Amino acid sequence: MTLRILVLGSAAGGGFPQWNGNDETSRRARAGDPKLPLRTQSSLALSADGRRWVLLNASPDLREQINARRQLHPLAEAAKRSSPIAAVVLTNADVDHVAGLLSLRENQPFALYAHRRVLDVLAENSIFKVINPACVTRRSLPLDDSQELCDASGAPLDLRVVAFTVPGKAPLWREDEAQPSFGTRAGDTIGLEIGSGDSTDALFYIPGCAAMTDELATRLDGAALVFFDGTLWRDDEMIVQGVGAKTGLRMGHMSCSGPEGSMAAFESLRVGRKVFIHINNTNPLLVADSPERAEAEARGWEIACDGMEIAP
Ligand code: MLT
Ligand code: MN
Repeated sequence: MTLRILVLGSAAGGGFPQWNGNDETSRRARAGDPKLPLRTQSSLALSADGRRWVLLNASPDLREQINARRQLHPLAEAAKRSSPIAAVVLTNADVDHVAGLLSLRENQPFALYAHRRVLDVLAENSIFKVINPACVTRRSLPLDDSQELCDASGAPLDLRVVAFTVPGKAPLWREDEAQPSFGTRAGDTIGLEIGSGDSTDALFYIPGCAAMTDELATRLDGAALVFFDGTLWRDDEMIVQGVGAKTGLRMGHMSCSGPEGSMAAFESLRVGRKVFIHINNTNPLLVADSPERAEAEARGWEIACDGMEIAP
């Protein structure tokens, strides 16, 4: 792996603890329990050269994430307004993946990559004009085709991406009850395969996925590193815990455990490193000494945490 990878945030929408979370784990986290570290909303930063960085999704916690990571601070010798963030790639238009764009205003050039459906959602919502189209170049990501990532001026970042659809759902705030599958269409949720230089090792980023299809399994078999949807441990977890009425599948997320879950689905795949990310505040994986965490680790999974770094 020739990429530098920084986990900016590891939690699902709402972060951990969520602002209104008043259960025992949220209380312990706020009290500073080392077994329950705080987590911001999921995002990765990647770089081929250690100088120019690409964000995978822009979480509502982005400003805090930038302040916490020296790699994303403006370089001392650079102009009075500058940023190492050269591009942002979006996997869908969920609030926890796009709201951080609003913190990237101030006429700073970068390139914004997403599927056409997501770019259209941003274009329809005039608040996103704060990322000034005159300096933020929006580029549509084709599916199943390798594309070189470039900064706003077109300079290559030595990173290439393949976007592919994964089973998912339209963003919660765009659901249309009158339509089948709430109006979900191909391209609403994508996964990303990102490589760099001559290396054949690639990183897969799939923070939302509703099911493991044969096509996805084939794509992931042999991967060096996969960050995968770790939203819920079990499908009915929010109902059982009395904090919500929805199952994971209703929200577009397959669970970690169970015969239809991601751990079972990855069992037959050859994957170098498997890392759960986008972990919901109800998932017992958040608790460092939970039996569920022990089970996941025994089955070869790592649990992403904010600040986790993977270097070449
Ligand atoms: C999700 O991952 O399902 C969404 O982030 C849910 C939401 O928008 O709250
Ligand atoms: Mn989410």
